[in-house]
This record gives sequence, C-alpha cells and structure tokens, in this order.
Amino acid sequence: MNYKKDFPIFNHNPWLVFFDGGASVQKPKVVIDGVSDFVAQDYANIHRWMYDLSERSEKMYHDSKEAVARLLGWCKASEIFYTYNSTYGINIVAQALVRSEFLKKGDVVLLGIWEHHANVLPWQILSEMFGFEIKFVGITDEYDIDWNDFDKKYDHNVKVVAMSHVSNVTGMIYDMKAVHQKLRESTFFLVDGSQSLPHFAVHVEEISCDCLVFTGHKMMAYTGIGAVYLKKEWMKNLNPMVAGGGTVEDVSVTGHRLASGTDKWEAGTPNIVWAASLLYAIEYIESLGGLEAISQHESELTAYALKKFHTLEKSGKISLIWPKQSEKRVGVFSFVLSDSKNFQVIGEKFAEHNIAIRCGGHCAYPLHKSLNVQWTCRMSMYIYNDKADVDKFFEVLEKIV
Ligand SMILES: Cc1ncc(COP(=O)(O)O)c(C=O)c1O
Repeated sequence: MNYKKDFPIFNHNPWLVFFDGGASVQKPKVVIDGVSDFVAQDYANIHRWMYDLSERSEKMYHDSKEAVARLLGWCKASEIFYTYNSTYGINIVAQALVRSEFLKKGDVVLLGIWEHHANVLPWQILSEMFGFEIKFVGITDEYDIDWNDFDKKYDHNVKVVAMSHVSNVTGMIYDMKAVHQKLRESTFFLVDGSQSLPHFAVHVEEISCDCLVFTGHKMMAYTGIGAVYLKKEWMKNLNPMVAGGGTVEDVSVTGHRLASGTDKWEAGTPNIVWAASLLYAIEYIESLGGLEAISQHESELTAYALKKFHTLEKSGKISLIWPKQSEKRVGVFSFVLSDSKNFQVIGEKFAEHNIAIRCGGHCAYPLHKSLNVQWTCRMSMYIYNDKADVDKFFEVLEKIV
C-alpha cells in the first residue's frame, strides 16, 4: 500500500526520507484541504448558537470530539477536553489534582523512568511547591517495567501513577492493563498516549485509566491541538487552575460558579481550527481501516528494519537501545555508534542524504541517565514510510559506521 501519495510534502520534496515521526508526523492532503475548506466555508467562534455559521462551527467541534471518543474505543465525547498538546494536558490535570486537594504534602506520584519530560516536569514543579514526593519505577535489562521495583515503590502513600504507554526513545510498549491491575481503586491513573495512539488502537476502557492524554501533531493533525480523556467522575469532581471565558456558569464581584462538564476545562476560545484538523486526521485514519491498519503496516516495516539493525549490531559498530522482542514495540529505534561521541555530526550526515532523523536526549534525560548514555540517534517511522526508505537509511548508516 502506497500511503506516501496522500502526503503533499513528498511531492514537494521528492528525495525526502522522513524518519522523525516520533517528534511530529507529516500531514495528509485531506487534513490540509479539510482545514482550509472549513476556515473558508464554516468558521466562526463556537458556544454562541446565534447564527448558522456558528452552528456549523459548533457541529464540527462536537464531531471532532465524537471522533476522538470513537478512536479511544467509544468513550463519551463528554469525557474529552481539548488542550494544546500532551504537555499542556498533563500540566492541567496535575494542577487540578493539587488544586482539588487530591494530591497533598506527604503523598507520592509514581512515574516510569522512561517518561518524556512532559510527564516529569509538571509533577516536579508542583512537588517543589506543594511538598509531595516523586518516585520513578525502573526498567529491566529488557527495557520492560521492573515489577519488583514497582511493588516496592507502590506503597500506601502513592496517590497518582502516571506513565507513558510507549517510550519515545526505545519504542517499548508498556502494558498499561497490567499496571492498572496492580492499582488500588483510589489511585489516580494517568496514561501518556503520545507515542501509542499514533501507532495502534488504545481503548481507555480496556486499560481502565482515569485519564489519557495525547497530542494531535503526532497523528496527522496540526500542531496546537491535544486531547485529554478524563473519566466522568474526575471530570466532575476536579477543578482546573486555568479559568476564564467559557469555564463559568456565573460570575459576580464576589465570586463565581464554575461550569460543569468539559466547559470548565477549556478556558478561553478553544483551538477550533486545529480541532478540525484532528477530526480530518481521524477520519483519514478510519478511511485506511483504523489504527489497526496503521499498526499492521508499521509492524511489517518494523520487522524489516529490525533485521537490518541486528545485522549491523553484530558488526559491533552500533549499540541498539531497545527491547529484543519485536511484538512489544513500535517503529521507534534509538542507537549509538560505538566510536563516535558527536551525535550532531551523525544527524547532519543523514541530512546530507535527505534523511530526517533526530539525535539527542529526546526529552527523556532520566532514561538516558539510567542507561548511562548521554544521547542517542533516533529513527522513527510512520505510515508513509516504506521498505525503500528503510533501505536508503541503511545504505547511509552503513557508510557512516
Ligand atoms: C511520550 C511523550 N510524551 C509527551 C510528549 C509531548 O508531546 P507535546 O510536545 O506534543 O506536548 C512527547 C513528545 O515527543 C512524547 O514522546
């Protein structure tokens, strides 16, 4: 299946091999045209209902959330609110847990050592202000959750467990269902789906999380739109720190009454236009056969690349930073060259051949520190990549090593 033809970036850059989807993916024509048509034909501010345009805009916004609800396995659209990205989603929820006094001094937040900084810093900054503690669960030599470490650290002080479903460095998939099975009813369970939802179907009911965040630009929507799934009772009982227009039922000089439902979570004019981009991205995914089809395409390509990586690893010139089992991973591959300390140069060498990869700490310094590597080169795939891209990547990598 040739998905590349759906992405105009490859018409404009015919030699481009784009392996930086872990950072952000390219946009299909249907998303670009869909957004442009929406703005040209239907755009107005929402939540007004005064005139036809506003109604059409409102309908699109609602359809967008319905599409997210379908994507997450038919949860309710009323359990979804929009933010700018995953980072904002985690910050908003973390702050709400503190503001609502669920998370207090003496409590513990348990994270994975593989977290992206987006799921570290919001907790660290709040912990400095409010006095709760943060602990990190380690990984085994096979990059999986160290369950002994989990059991040791998950004591009665743990109020929140917040973990990335997939590592943006190793591509390892962490079993969120298994994590949930370990949790007490009273533990708030947040899943960072930033690197899982772009690659495979994630159903919130199946993993039984209280909250799931994801970011639109990693799954073909535009930058600046992210979504938070928050279970109904948390949606109702937590109160966000960010407030303003649209979040209140009533305001007077002496106080205010917050709105109920998703409204109280979306302060100010929402990102209506980019919500349209998320709608069209999800419709495009559905037209391909859903995330299952994406997953199928990527796992074939992943297996193809893995073979080549392992052959190269045997030469001793590169070290691979990921699990051996291919069924527990997505198409994100990080590696280091045995005899090179300068990651910038390697990235530039690939760039000279029109191959986009990323080299550095990938906003996952705790993981890199725990593995004793300062940086890694990361090649990350998405639906538009094919075997010819992989072959070209290895031609260049072999030359470099
Ligand atoms: C696992 C993970 N979580 C969170 C994020 C943050 O995403 P955003 O920058 O869109 O907020 C990323 C981005 O790379 C990520 O890989």
